[in-house]
Order: sequence, then structure tokens, then C-alpha cells
Amino acid sequence: MAQPGILARLDHPADFDGWRRHARALALAEVAPGRIDWHIGTEASGLFAGLAEPPPVPASGAELRVPREFVELAQAVVCHRDGGRFDLLYRLLLRLQREPMLLHVITDDEVHRARAMAKAVRRDLHKMTAFVRFREVVGPDGGEAFVAWFEPEHHIVERVSRFFVERFAAMRWSILTPLRSLHWDGTTLHLGEGASRADAPDDDAMEGYWRTYYANIFNPARLKIKAMKAEMPEKYWRNLPEAELIAPLIAAAGKRAQEMVAKAPTLPPERHLRQMQRLRDAEPGSTDAPTSWEQARAVAKDCSRCGLCQQATQTVFGEGPLAAPVMFVGEQPGDQEDLAGRPFVGPAGQVFDRVMGEAGLDRSRAYVTNAVKHFKFTVRCKRRIHERPHAGEIAACRFWLGLEREFVRPKLVVALGATALHALTGYTGSLASMRERDLALEDGTALLATVHPSYLLRLPDEDARERETARFRADLERVGLLVPEMLAA
Ligand code: URA
Repeated sequence: MAQPGILARLDHPADFDGWRRHARALALAEVAPGRIDWHIGTEASGLFAGLAEPPPVPASGAELRVPREFVELAQAVVCHRDGGRFDLLYRLLLRLQREPMLLHVITDDEVHRARAMAKAVRRDLHKMTAFVRFREVVGPDGGEAFVAWFEPEHHIVERVSRFFVERFAAMRWSILTPLRSLHWDGTTLHLGEGASRADAPDDDAMEGYWRTYYANIFNPARLKIKAMKAEMPEKYWRNLPEAELIAPLIAAAGKRAQEMVAKAPTLPPERHLRQMQRLRDAEPGSTDAPTSWEQARAVAKDCSRCGLCQQATQTVFGEGPLAAPVMFVGEQPGDQEDLAGRPFVGPAGQVFDRVMGEAGLDRSRAYVTNAVKHFKFTVRCKRRIHERPHAGEIAACRFWLGLEREFVRPKLVVALGATALHALTGYTGSLASMRERDLALEDGTALLATVHPSYLLRLPDEDARERETARFRADLERVGLLVPEMLAA
């Protein structure tokens, strides 16, 4: 017999807490997505007759696996206008229980859809914080108050409210939108119904202020009309008092830019001087971020972000062309790398080079680095024996790996082994389940995960070594397929 449907009620269109409460209980009770009717509002309707209430949340016992990244994704997706958003999130939640790295599989339709929805919502949030324009009105008590009209595309009003309360805490204001409205009386925020354009005033002295502000920040020497329209889409212009200045400012931009060049000081901008000074003064371990790869490498020489620098001979930074299309990330330098100051030159490096060649790849076109930049070891019988870095050391060194990614900007990152995958994604589960899949980093860069070459060296039996080497070679061949620039000529 077919199981009855379940009515999961939500208080409002972006009710993340309500969705989470129901989703948790439903997932723990293993309710299939197709049985759930996600409904916004509390009104009774004959349409819901026959639908059961969601099961109660179990007081204790089994728990769900919910990566932090999913919570952030879900908080954005619930704000999207798409009617299927709650169902999509519930499906992802169920799948995450079996596929913990699912969110990194960008080729997956549901992941792709959710990420696109979150991106649209974030863009809408950004636009609202940038393009709300207040007009002065007389408040109910005859005092000063401000009203703005804005048309968001998604259910973001509640989410964005904190921004406006913090930014305009001392004013009394209302932001009217067709979906919901915000009213701040100086101490309390009220969320109201949607409003119409006619409820908002049209003109006032504030408009003059916005026009002056815009004319001042407009830099004719940096004029890029396409980028400007992407940042300030034309659909927002009708609510922006300064929009009427755009055309004349663009028309006069060429002449004004020439005047600015003629008047420009010859010293570098103050900001650059301050930054250079900070770098010169930077203590080892300072988080002042270098602004070029060369600076990063130089500053990393004195790195003491964790204790590994005390034993190791030197920092082993990554190497390779800065325009490399692929970045290989290993674990940490070994004994020989520590002495030579270069990554992957010892026994594991030799395996790496050999299999790269067999897969048709040219190592000299790749950027090769490690998750951790100092050799970690214990001494036994006068020999330095490799030790795996722990999570704190990996986290401390992520700073440098992040800079390398920023300066090299590869199309594809290849994680060689579990430590590299952990450093790049935070994932600490099994490497095996991540192999042979098209993954992506949080910024969208493609990611492949494979074994570390030293794993092949440790396999005791010949057959296993051959089999595993063939799999490693196949992984590297995939690199050549994805990024043909890596293929040896
Ligand atoms: N193992 C690594 O992970 N990196 C090296 O550079 C050498 C061995």
C-alpha cells in the first residue's frame, strides 16, 4: 500500500530553521523525498486533507552527517525563488549520508543546481546592500525618517536585514520590497508585508547627496563599461538617483582621464608603500599576505606558523611555471627534498616523474608543491624517518598553499594522497571514495584526487604494485585529457 504524504509546514519563504527541523526528523525516519509536501504558511486547506504531520525529532540516538559547507549552501538556497528549493535540499541531505564528498562533485545535476541557486541568492544579497537608496520623509511623530524601495529577485529581505540595522542603526528607516518590508525604529526591527512602488516617495534632498557621491567616486581612468553594467545592472538604474549621471560621466571620461594622468603624482600610492613597509617589518608568522609569488616564497623561508620549522633544514616551497595549468599537491618534503630545498626530488619524486612520463605528461609544465612545507620526522638509528603532519600543521600551512593557488591560478589541482586532499578541501575521509571523480574546490577550480607516489613504494608485493601503478598512471592520463597543455610535445 502507498505510504501517505507528509505535510511539512514552513513559517515563511526563507524559513531555514523550519526546513532544518523537519528535514532532520524526516531524514532520520528515512522518509522518501517524493512523499513530502513542503508548504509555506499555516492556513488550513482541503488540499492538505490526508497528509500526515512530520514525525517528531528523536530525542537522541542516530545523527545525520551534515558538512558545514552544506549548512551554508542551504541557508542561501532557501532564499531562492525556485519552488523546488526545499525538496532539492532534502534530496541532497539524504545523499550526503551516503556520499560525504557529494558537494564537491560539480558534474552532479543536483549539486550544480543548488550551487547555481546559492550563487544567484548571494548576488541578489550583494546587489541589495549596494543599491538600496533612502529618501528622506517626515516620520509619524514629525521627525526625520527614511524610506527606500528595492526589488529583490529572491527571498533575501530577512537575511539582509542585519546589514542595514548595523549600517544605519542611528536612523529610523523602512525598506519596502514587493515580497516583505523592513522597518527599523532605532531600537527594534519589524518585518512587514510586501509593499508597492507607489508606497515609496520619489524625490528628496537625499537624491542630491547620492548624485554628488557617485560623481566623486567615479574614476574616468578606470572606466570599463561592460564591467560596470555587470556590477550595477541596468534594471536597478530606475531606482538609483545617480543613474542619470552615468551617461554624461561616461561621455566625459576620456578627457577627465587625460587630465588625471597629467596631474598624477609620481610616487606609488600610499597604500602600496604601507603594504611594502608591513612586509619588511613582518615578524616570522605574521599573516600579512604577500602580494606576489616571489614575496610569498621569500617570506615563507622564515615561516614559524607551526613547530616544524625547528627541526627541518629549510622551507620547501612549490616550484614550476607561474602560468602552469595544473598544480600537483603532495604531502610534505621528504628527507632529500629537505636537503635540496625542492619538492619531489627523492624516491617518491622519481616514481612521480616516471609515471608522469608514461602518462605522456611533461612535469616541467606543472606547478608542484606540498600541503606542508617543512619535513616532519623522528630520528631512529641516526636516520630521519618521515612522520605524517597532523591537522594543526596542515591548517597552519594552508596559508601558503592558498597563496600558491592564488598566484598560480591553475585550471586543475591534483591532490596526491589524503593529506593533500585534506589540506585542499578539509575532507578527512577515505581517499579511495574520491578517486576517479570530477571534483571541484570551493572556488570552482577542478580537482582530481589520486594516491601519493610513495604509497606505490610502500606496497610489499609486486602484483599489487603493478596494479596500483597502472591506476595511478590512468589518473595522470586523465590529467592529460582534461588539460591537454600538459601533454609532452
Ligand atoms: N613526498 C611529498 O609529499 N612531497 C615531496 O616533495 C616528497 C615526498
